[in-house]
Amino acid sequence: MWTSLPFFLFPAVLLLCGCKCASASLCPEICWCFSSTIKCNNVTERSAQTIGDKGKRLVLYHLTLRTISSHSFENLRRVQRIEIAQSITLENIETLAFNNLLNLSEISIQNTRSLTHIDRGSFNNLPKLRYLSISNTGITFFPDMMSINSLESDFILDICDNLYLPEIPPNAFIGITREYVTMNLYNNGIREIRDHAFNGTKIDKLVLKNNRNLRVIHSEAFRGATGPGVLDVSATAIGKLPSQGLESVLVLLAQSAHSLKRLPPLQGLWSLREAYLTYNSHCCALLSWNTHRDFPINPPWKFVLITYLPLNDDLLITDEDFGDVNFHYPELDLCQTRPSLLCTPEADAFNPCEDIAGFSFLRVAIWFISILAITGNLTVLLVFFSSRTKLMVPRFLMCHLAFADLCIGIYLLMIAIVDLRTCGHYSQHAIEWQTGPGCSAAGFLSVFGGELSVYTLSTITLERWHTINNALQVERRLCLTQAASIMAAGWLVCLGMGALPLVGVSSYNKVSMCLPMDIETPLAQAFIIVVLLFNVSAFLIVCVCYVLIYLAVRNPEFPRRSTDTKIAKRMAVLIFTDFLCMAPISFFAISAAFKIPLITVTNSKILLVLFFPINSCANPFLYAIFTKAFRKDAYQLMSAMGCFKKKASVYHMKACCSENVIKSNSGSNRKGNRKKLRWVAFPQRNTKEEGDQT
Ligand SMILES: *[C@@H]1O[C@H](CO)[C@@H](O)[C@H](O)[C@H]1NC(C)=O
Ligand SMILES: *[C@@H]1O[C@H](CO)[C@@H](O)[C@H](O)[C@H]1NC(C)=O
Ligand SMILES: *[C@@H]1O[C@H](CO)[C@@H](O)[C@H](O)[C@H]1NC(C)=O
Repeated sequence: MWTSLPFFLFPAVLLLCGCKCASASLCPEICWCFSSTIKCNNVTERSAQTIGDKGKRLVLYHLTLRTISSHSFENLRRVQRIEIAQSITLENIETLAFNNLLNLSEISIQNTRSLTHIDRGSFNNLPKLRYLSISNTGITFFPDMMSINSLESDFILDICDNLYLPEIPPNAFIGITREYVTMNLYNNGIREIRDHAFNGTKIDKLVLKNNRNLRVIHSEAFRGATGPGVLDVSATAIGKLPSQGLESVLVLLAQSAHSLKRLPPLQGLWSLREAYLTYNSHCCALLSWNTHRDFPINPPWKFVLITYLPLNDDLLITDEDFGDVNFHYPELDLCQTRPSLLCTPEADAFNPCEDIAGFSFLRVAIWFISILAITGNLTVLLVFFSSRTKLMVPRFLMCHLAFADLCIGIYLLMIAIVDLRTCGHYSQHAIEWQTGPGCSAAGFLSVFGGELSVYTLSTITLERWHTINNALQVERRLCLTQAASIMAAGWLVCLGMGALPLVGVSSYNKVSMCLPMDIETPLAQAFIIVVLLFNVSAFLIVCVCYVLIYLAVRNPEFPRRSTDTKIAKRMAVLIFTDFLCMAPISFFAISAAFKIPLITVTNSKILLVLFFPINSCANPFLYAIFTKAFRKDAYQLMSAMGCFKKKASVYHMKACCSENVIKSNSGSNRKGNRKKLRWVAFPQRNTKEEGDQT
């Protein structure tokens, strides 16, 4: 259509040059022009001496009229195309403006920004009309086309660039033609498509792309319609497609349709053969569904396919394609009725077609680990908060550690719950989850909790080293206000790290685990590297402190207290778990951050589920639950609650026993000091040793 435009313009120029000047504007030869109206009918046509092709095109550019009144174009016999364009004064097209034009095949009304009204029945009885274009006008409601009654097949309707067109009303296209219609409705201001909008129409191709405000296609929009064979909703804001009426869609285009987070029920798409979508997980869902879809014996798509193929040369279905498919998949020859499905974008490295927990053992592990982490840390927090002993710096820090680890536990629990709910069909829900608030919250918890845990661990280690170093000068030890300000700074840093992906530096919605794995921009890459360096340097600080503590307590001249040594011993275990947690993840993460991924996302889940939470699970036990002070607090809490009297008395007995053990231990410590320190690095065996000693 458009390629032939220069061809049309040439006779138009001739027409304009040879016309009589009735008013300020130029009047075509076959019309009579008056100051406020124009008449082109069988009478004016007959009086003009047009020869050849000239009379077939009626070109009206730069009209100075405000209205195209009733019967302006009537009973013309030879005219096949009417073009109205570049007319900024035109405001209204009246009823029967285009009436009884038996040889007219094209009407084009373009670039008339003031045109706000096209009255009902403006287009009346145009049996040969094949093309109607109303583009770049100011119309505020959908033009009425009910009385066109074209007898042509392959009707093309262009309604484009009408920015003030708010909606497609019910029965909008009824009466255009009984045959198939191609509807190019792009770039309009359309916000919604009402129920029954396409009632009574056979839609060949429906292009709604670039209607950026289009949010809603009501569920009954296609009720009463046949087709469409091709549906294009690219670059629209629609949140979902209607669940009915898409049975004959062969080709679905929804690129850059970022709000379309969920596909309609797949069994309603049973003719689909090509899909060009926004999200690759939708392709996962479609392709996996395609392998077992039932195909009806007499599908209506065959009919649509025939009518639609010759029209659309821009489409990718060709014999060659199908031949190709059969070549690659010879088994398709046996079941010709099942069509192949082409879908883009395909799964990428970040979104493999799999459930959140890619392996079933991970599904079990993630529940176990998350519940362990949550109960452990909750217990610690509960006991610490209910404890009546004076709040000291170590316990203050432990509280923060337990809170940070609790965040990790909650993160894992969220992942576990979503995994359970979407088990087996995650790809259908992937985008809703990954772009939703749940994933952002989970991602925030994981980064915030992880970093706060690392920060608190380093602070605890530094504090222990500082205390041991200044064992004699009590006044130089860390006081609570100093600890509080250190932790406040930590909270700020960690909140910032957790919040950055929420504000666009990297993002949590790249992978199903909701971790910030997006390294597309240099800023995101820098963020990930900074986070990893933060972790690695925290780990190094912990190691160095531990070595210093070890050297300090080894020094026989150094005045030392047995509790400090004990904590140092425990720290060996802590460093070991810390290393186990940090090393593999940091190694692979740093390689990935420099865009040399050494591990797939699927395999990284094993690391993330099994190694990342090691600290969160182990910390409450290593730092609190296994300590004497904690058991004392727990015992107090139990007895205070009364209802646990029996258990509490058991704990009481245990506590007494362990106190005795510790007393005798500290007695033997004086002598067996050297021997004991040798076992510092192996705490489990060390405990045994202690037991043996008593
Ligand atoms: C113009 O067309 C109308 C309707 O077809 C007809 O009644 C009328 O006689 C025609 N006039 C001329 C001059 O052909
Ligand atoms: C329509 O136009 C064609 C070609 O110009 C002409 O042969 C034919 O007679 C016209 N039809 C009518 C009804 O005037
Ligand atoms: C749909 O169109 C038919 C005519 O084709 C009409 O009778 C019916 O009322 C329309 N339905 C609605 C809901 O408008």
